[in-house]
Amino acid sequence: MSKNVLILSGSPRKGGNSDLLCDEFMRGVLEAGNTVEKIRVSEKKIGYCTACYYCQTSGGVCAKKDDMAEVLQKMIDADVIVLSSRVYFYSIDAQLKTLIDRTVARWTEVKD
Ligand SMILES: Cc1cc2nc3c(=O)[nH]c(=O)nc-3n(C[C@H](O)[C@H](O)[C@H](O)COP(=O)(O)O)c2cc1C
Repeated sequence: MSKNVLILSGSPRKGGNSDLLCDEFMRGVLEAGNTVEKIRVSEKKIGYCTACYYCQTSGGVCAKKDDMAEVLQKMIDADVIVLSSRVYFYSIDAQLKTLIDRTVARWTEVKD
């Protein structure tokens, strides 16, 4: 059965190393008959989680009004999520970490 794949590309370098790997992964996903969307995280407006916990009393709605609600809905709808990060000082990059932190509003709805 065809899968709905979401690729979250962390690097701001369009056509850079990790972004190219995302494109190659996307090619394989399509060749195998699945659907895929790639989001370049740096092109989205995603602010930091401030641990205000508004989301805990609002049914998963975040107090910050930016692009994260749309991205998080896509994460919840996806069968497969690909997270692509550069290695930055032995860790994941800030773009992807910021996005992961913001999933706190609805992370329990993300499959598997
Ligand atoms: C601030 C900074 C920190 C980095 N830290 C690491 C690191 O800890 N380990 C590593 O192997 N490469 C490190 N790199 C190299 C990047 O991971 C490498 O250039 C990577 O290919 C960049 O990914 P991109 O082409 O997708 O943007 C660092 C680069 C920068 C600018």
